[in-house]
Parts: sequence; structure tokens; C-alpha cells
Amino acid sequence: MKVSEKYEKYAVGNYGKRSITLVKGKGAHVWDENGKKYLDFGGGIAVLSLGHCNKKLVDALIKQANTLGHCSNLYMHAPQADAAEHLVKEMGKGKVFFCNSGAEANEALLKAARLNGKKLSGEEGRKFRVIVAVNGFHGRTLATLSATAQEKIQKGFSPLMPEFSYAEFNNLKSVEDLMGDDVAAVLVEPIQGESGVLPATKEFLQGLRSLCDKHGAMLMFDEVQCGVGRTGKFSASKKFGVKADAISMAKGLGGGFPIGAIWLSEKYQDLFTPGSHGTTFGGNPLACACANAVMDEIDSKKLCQNAEKLGKKLLSSLQKIAKKYPQKIKLARGVGLMIGVLFQDNYKNADVCSALIKNGLILVPAGSNALRLLPPLNIKESEVNSALKIFEKTISEI
Ligand SMILES: Cc1ncc(COP(=O)(O)O)c(C=O)c1O
Repeated sequence: MKVSEKYEKYAVGNYGKRSITLVKGKGAHVWDENGKKYLDFGGGIAVLSLGHCNKKLVDALIKQANTLGHCSNLYMHAPQADAAEHLVKEMGKGKVFFCNSGAEANEALLKAARLNGKKLSGEEGRKFRVIVAVNGFHGRTLATLSATAQEKIQKGFSPLMPEFSYAEFNNLKSVEDLMGDDVAAVLVEPIQGESGVLPATKEFLQGLRSLCDKHGAMLMFDEVQCGVGRTGKFSASKKFGVKADAISMAKGLGGGFPIGAIWLSEKYQDLFTPGSHGTTFGGNPLACACANAVMDEIDSKKLCQNAEKLGKKLLSSLQKIAKKYPQKIKLARGVGLMIGVLFQDNYKNADVCSALIKNGLILVPAGSNALRLLPPLNIKESEVNSALKIFEKTISEI
């Protein structure tokens, strides 16, 4: 039976039909079952910080698997201690908690908001509302999909978890109108990824900071997609120059090995106490060994600078292509190596994506009609040039 037939027969149909079966990858390239080679600028949806099968990452994983593959959180191990130390060095004074995915990291943020709300308003107090942004994306668990103000994500899952208020992104007045002393936290993505790569304005994030300070609410950034170097700084909060109280990460942190994390600033680092939260796999030695390899490579190979430099080149070239084909492309926007191209209504992103795949370039659909470019942070200039060539050729053909 072919791989596609097994999927059809045995896998739950929660994902749309997939066009290719991948068998191997190296760096920024992947190969399908027919031996066709693709440039992968989807990066497993912002996961493959070091590209496919990076030697440092693979060596670290194998070494750890041969040393101590799993250890419950009842005991300590060096990889988790090192990963925590490294993250605190990058994110700022505070502490970290490890989990397994972006949704789980955001669940931990929401639980931290509850704990802090109770600390401030008492066990019976009512400080537990969380303001989130329309068209944000925070995950698929019941709490995080309730925090995801998008009908297509929430449809079929009511009743949603209560006490979320939905404000407009980049509209401070809309947040102000919903703000009150019963608000425990404001949770936003500094760059909305799933809905089409829409960066926040610095003024919006600064305004959120002031509103949270005024009302004793925590400012929380979801950096699951835009964190870990993708914007050109390790944390997007540093790129925007706005201090958050708590930040979630996942995706790129493990470079392909599942791991999630939250960072809590010094003021909030002791919200969780023994027994208040936990996970079997979170911060497991294999996951932390991979995260350490990713963070070491980001440091030693100056990958934030690479993301900044090549991101600028990629974005400006895409904007030139957009100008050349205004009847097909509305605009290109983004920060660092997180870039979105928005298409005109009569050019569907799914169709453009298929045409690009035929020509050997993998991108990721986003929002109502956009495609995302999320290449590895160690992408080479020659690979950026090749991707741009395929992109422009495809746009001219469609
Ligand atoms: C900003 C953001 N938050 C949370 C998530 C959920 O992460 P996961 O799929 O690892 O649960 C995603 C996934 O796309 C995301 O982009």
C-alpha cells in the first residue's frame, strides 16, 4: 500500500489532502518519494531553525539518546538545567518551564494568569479575564482555541472556555475599551503568523504595556512562531523593544524535536509552586539536548544576524516582485525570516502553493489568502536567490 493510501485508510481526516510525500531532507532541501528535490522555505512551519538533519542537532540527539533518553520531572538532569540557563540568558531575568508544544506553552501562560489573578484578588476574586486579539492563533486545546479569536478554529467546539475578550489587533483603543481591573492578562502574538504574517506596531505593544501596568495585568507574548531568533533577535520582545511579563515558545526551539517553554519574568517566576502544574515529557533530556544544540548554533553561527540580513533581502525582493505583478500580489510584509505574501482575491493561495511545489519551492499557506516564507535561520544567500527565482517564475506563469 502506498503512503498516501495508508493515510487515507488509517489517519483521522483533520488535515486537508496533501500533495507530496517527503522521504528525506538536508539543510534547506527535501526530496519526495519520486526523488524530486524541493527548496523548503516552509521549514516545517517555522520549526526547522537549523534546516533538515543538521549535524550538530543530530549528533546531540544521538549522544543524548545513548546517555539518558528520558528522565521524569521527579529527577534533575543536566540538559534541562542547561536549556533553562541558556533561555534565561537570552530572555532576561526570570525562570522557565518546559512543556511539549506551543498550545501547551500557552496553556501554561493562561494558568499563570489565573494564579496571578488569584494572588491579587483572592481565591474568590474575579481577576481572571484575558484579552486576546482577533485573528490571533494560540493553539488547538480547548483553552487555547477559546483564546484564538477565529471562527474557523472555534467552530464545532462550543461551549468555549469563558472569560476571553477579543480586541482588534493593532488598535489600542479597542483594547482600552475592554480593559478593566478584572483583567488578569493580555495575550498577543508580536507578529500574527497563522493569519497572514501581520506584525504588531511598536506603539500598539507599548500601549499594551502601559494598559497592563495601569490595571495590574500581565502582558504575555505568544512567540511560538516568531520567537527563537526568527525576527533577527532571539526574542521578538527584544526586536520590538517592549518588555513582556511572560513569553511562550515552541516550534523553532527544538529545531524539529517537540519542545515548548514559557519564560516568566522575575516578578512572576514563582507563581507556580510544587504540584500546581506539570507534564510527563516536558523538558525531557532528548528535547532539551536538541534545544541546547539549536541555541548553541544560533549563538556560535550568529544566526539572528543572518535572519536579519537575509530576511531584509528576501522581503525587499518579494516587494519588488509584488510591484511588478500588482494584479496578482497585494503586498509582501514581515520581520526577519518570517515573511508573508498576500495575493489578490482571484489568485488563491492554495493554487499558488501548488504551482510553487510543481516548480520545486515549498511555502506555507496562511490566513485567508497568503503564503508564508519561514526558511531555516541558517539559510544561505544562494538559496534565497534560488527561492526568489522560482517564486518569480511561478508568479509570471500563473
Ligand atoms: C503563534 C502560535 N501559537 C501557538 C501555536 C500552537 O502551537 P502547537 O501547534 O505546537 O500546539 C502556533 C502554531 O502554529 C502558533 O503559530
